[in-house]
Amino acid sequence: MPDDLTANYRNDTLVLGISDLARLRRERPLVLARGRGVFVFDDQGRDYIEAVSSFYCVGLGYSDPELIEAAISQLRRLPMYPSGAHRTVPVVMELAEKLAALAPFPGARVTFATTGSEANDHVLKFLWFANEAAGAPGRRRIITRAGSYHGSTVATTAMGGGARLRQVFGIPAGDMLHVSQPVKLPGESDAAATARLAAEFQQTIEAAGPETVAAFFAEPLSVSAGMRPPPEGYFAAIGAICARHGIRLVADEVVTGFGRLGTFWGSEAVGARPALLTAAKNLSSAYQPISAIVMGEDFADALEAASNAEGWLPHNGTYHAHPVAAAVALKVLEIFERRDLVGYVRRIMPYWARAVAELDAHPLVRGTRTHGLLAGIDLDDPAAGAPATSLKVEGIAQQVYDAALDCGLIVRPLVGSLVLSPPLVITEAEIDELIIRLTRALDLAVASRRDA
Ligand SMILES: Cc1ncc(COP(=O)(O)O)c(C=O)c1O
Repeated sequence: MPDDLTANYRNDTLVLGISDLARLRRERPLVLARGRGVFVFDDQGRDYIEAVSSFYCVGLGYSDPELIEAAISQLRRLPMYPSGAHRTVPVVMELAEKLAALAPFPGARVTFATTGSEANDHVLKFLWFANEAAGAPGRRRIITRAGSYHGSTVATTAMGGGARLRQVFGIPAGDMLHVSQPVKLPGESDAAATARLAAEFQQTIEAAGPETVAAFFAEPLSVSAGMRPPPEGYFAAIGAICARHGIRLVADEVVTGFGRLGTFWGSEAVGARPALLTAAKNLSSAYQPISAIVMGEDFADALEAASNAEGWLPHNGTYHAHPVAAAVALKVLEIFERRDLVGYVRRIMPYWARAVAELDAHPLVRGTRTHGLLAGIDLDDPAAGAPATSLKVEGIAQQVYDAALDCGLIVRPLVGSLVLSPPLVITEAEIDELIIRLTRALDLAVASRRDA
């Protein structure tokens, strides 16, 4: 039964990001009308396995009744009250306490924002505020990895490692420095890769002047850069260099937090020991927009010292720590504990790894890798390695994405590869169905290549 809710709407009014605006005038976008578990349904009633949990965020799957109920009861109790100006609401206090208890460092303190971009952006403000008050205003530079994604604001676009992305928006790199992704070269051992990357990191700091570098921002595992796990020992080596130079290691846990790698925080899975971290997305299973900055004691003290110097923390946002979002996030944390979701991910990881590895046999697949409930699939793309003419994902990955839609599957295309990040609650039978649909999509892409 089609949910034809939008038949009467024009499709040339709405402007969508990471979309071709001329195509939006010509063609209706895919309109998703419902969701249940790992499935979403379009307005014609067709089902799709959401193999990316939307943008890596709906960890508990769609339409979880407990999360819906948590939002409704908070809406009934107190639908909105901003946290700030020495005022807050009970669910926000409770959420801060629960998250602090889960932090991978002792004495944590927590503040909230609305999106992952905002959380990363605000960490920059807090770092600069704290360093200024500590008499080190020159400690402003931020190191990130080229190709990483840390958000869509001006500052996080500068921070993100895409030179072309900065260029098209005219955003200068400014205080941001970029080092290589933690990727092993062909034939390189983990130890050699770690030594090479640590040497590059050290040289970057020395060239900039260690006293000018505030922080190193890194995802525990680079997801938008192609699902790249770091070589063994990478974070221990980088962490030691950071400690030597008084540089704070910030873990962007926006994707990897909440069980994605089989540990509560991705940092735990890769041996990273951050001074502070940012979280979003699965914090509320993305049912409501909320993000968090979880600070270790040392950084929280530095922020408080800056507040003492200024008289307060001059920073706030209307929707930060929104009570409905906080109520949903609290329920997410309760569910994680009650249903042992991290344990569930750990138990299903071998099945996932085996199922994804079956794709290695496909003629269009150059190689696969999994880590936790993530997968990266490199495709046999004749254009791979050639300089991209546009930021837009094109070529074989886009063809497989389009074919996958026809097969009832939503994947994330990158240049020459795909990333999968299904809801954490996916079952073995659903993994089997995902692989069947993806194999069909790969077959379709091969057939259309042959016909071309
Ligand atoms: C690693 C990482 N950090 C930050 C962000 C930005 O989060 P948001 O889209 O909620 O602003 C994203 C979004 O995909 C991300 O993948």
